[in-house]
Amino acid sequence: MPQLSYIDVFFSVQAFQEEELRGKSAVIIDVLRASSSIATAIRNGAKKIIPVADMSDAMKIATTMDQKDYLLCGEKNGNKIEGYHLGNSPAEYTPDTVKDKTLIFNTTNGTKAIKKASLANKVYIGSFLNQQSILDILQEHDDEIVLICSGWQGRLSIEDTLFAGALLYAISGGNLPDSAKDGAKVAFGLFEKYGHDLEGAISKSDHAKRLAELVPNDDISFCCKVNEFDVLPGMRDGILTNLNG
Ligand code: MLT
Repeated sequence: MPQLSYIDVFFSVQAFQEEELRGKSAVIIDVLRASSSIATAIRNGAKKIIPVADMSDAMKIATTMDQKDYLLCGEKNGNKIEGYHLGNSPAEYTPDTVKDKTLIFNTTNGTKAIKKASLANKVYIGSFLNQQSILDILQEHDDEIVLICSGWQGRLSIEDTLFAGALLYAISGGNLPDSAKDGAKVAFGLFEKYGHDLEGAISKSDHAKRLAELVPNDDISFCCKVNEFDVLPGMRDGILTNLNG
């Protein structure tokens, strides 16, 4: 387990430089909804997920593959991208749809955070859905850990910060030492205030309001479920697979 003073929290994709992650490991968090959709897709049998930073990278990768093997997935500003097979709702990532497929995944903030973390020792994808798998793997780490909240276009998101706080709360047994970093204290404090009613807090978040007109309500409550899946999406050579598989 890393010492608590070795765990930091970054609150958006824009809050760090790639080089800052060298020699550290990272958990990428985008509760609404990229990390929740990735965990669901892996749980439902997706063979691998290739995160990309933009549409042109997605198309470049797609043209190298057989059409029957891949699905183009993701959103821009919450909306499914025209011509893509799937959007970014976890409900779309059913076993019938994703089993044995390679998903080329492109989202507004989440996949950008994943790509930006490429210099980290290890990269995991965390959401409430697979919280325990993240806690279990962090126990094996003695390097510095950064919990990277994807946020929204440079701004903090309460749902991502709450998940970072949930991890810190569990790791510290509810008692964060004074030696913890500032980011860890903020996330922990937020979880102390709102952790008893995750769905209540997250359904009033800025991003839930943004999504309200665009996606089914069920997406929010689904993404607030804790420990639904025992999957550990993690990066190897630019590709996400289930490291618990
Ligand atoms: C993102 O990457 O910003 C999100 O996953 C957006 C969304 O909710 O679809």
